[in-house]
Amino acid sequence: MACKKFLTLNNGLKMPSIGIGTWMAPDHEIEAALDLALKVGYRHIDAAPVYLNEKAIGRVLKKWLDSNQIKREDLFITTKLPPPANRPSCVEKTLRNSLNDLQLSYVDMYLIHTPFSVPETGGDFERDANGDIVIDPTTDHIEIWKTMEKMVELGLTKSIGISNFNKKQIQRLLDNSKTKPSNLQIELHLYFQQNELVDLCKANNIVVTAYSPLGSRGIVDLKKSAGVKCESINLIENPKVLEIAENHKKTPAQILLRWIIQRDVCAIPKSTNPERLQQNLNIWDFELSNDEMSSLSKLDKGIRVCDFSFFKGMEKHPEFPW
Ligand code: A2P
Repeated sequence: MACKKFLTLNNGLKMPSIGIGTWMAPDHEIEAALDLALKVGYRHIDAAPVYLNEKAIGRVLKKWLDSNQIKREDLFITTKLPPPANRPSCVEKTLRNSLNDLQLSYVDMYLIHTPFSVPETGGDFERDANGDIVIDPTTDHIEIWKTMEKMVELGLTKSIGISNFNKKQIQRLLDNSKTKPSNLQIELHLYFQQNELVDLCKANNIVVTAYSPLGSRGIVDLKKSAGVKCESINLIENPKVLEIAENHKKTPAQILLRWIIQRDVCAIPKSTNPERLQQNLNIWDFELSNDEMSSLSKLDKGIRVCDFSFFKGMEKHPEFPW
């Protein structure tokens, strides 16, 4: 089965099929992990201001670019418009802040991080008297998108896309935009296979990126600490995954990632562990058979980990769920 190291976006740009996720990685961890990631061959980095580590990422990028060990055009850097800035007047300023922190003159992909917007106060999202998150009811994706298009014209980003949008929101954007989104980043893994959204994106030439491709223990922990009921999913212990891993002499994580890549979907596993970081990139020397692909496809359980319910009150948003 075809498996591409790069996926071509609708503007012709090539995005490496495996990138490194950077959420839940504090500065000292991400600096070491990113340094190693670049050494072992990662060229795609997925960042966001809400991960609070863009300055650390920028320090590593500057070191590598200044020393000419890597050329800017060989890197694919994604960052995102954070929820509190989800309005046209904030887009350019927020992107420039990210570029400043990342020490770059442009990014390769700028994504609207979430379909919703929440006002910020004192460095945290605003809450009402019940502790529920305050949702901005005026978010207008079409108007925000027009400003996103301007970011491409200004040369601040090569491509634009969306993240966490649902089918209806994507369709509305497709029907009302000049530049079509080139990337949709969503939670996607063995137990949340997202067939409908992947089909919609393929039909519209939008590359899909899978976040939490290994099932993100980080989000599960976050939900539990927020007191939200959450099923733990341990994809790397699924018996079918273990059996296929044994057949190929690969790790369960490599099977989970290869299964995603063979669907022509990009994956951004996060690891700050040197051994696992290398393992996640080393998935090119084997192939899952059609039978293995279809037996894995039967394991969908519809378990979404990141539904933003760790923000109490989010379900009151008129367009929830995404
Ligand atoms: P660590 O950073 O200690 O490696 P996701 O990308 O789905 O959010 O998953 C990230 C989580 O999975 C992190 O807890 C990460 O921990 C862990 N992880 C990353 N790569 C592997 C791997 N190859 N095998 C097992 N766990 C992994």
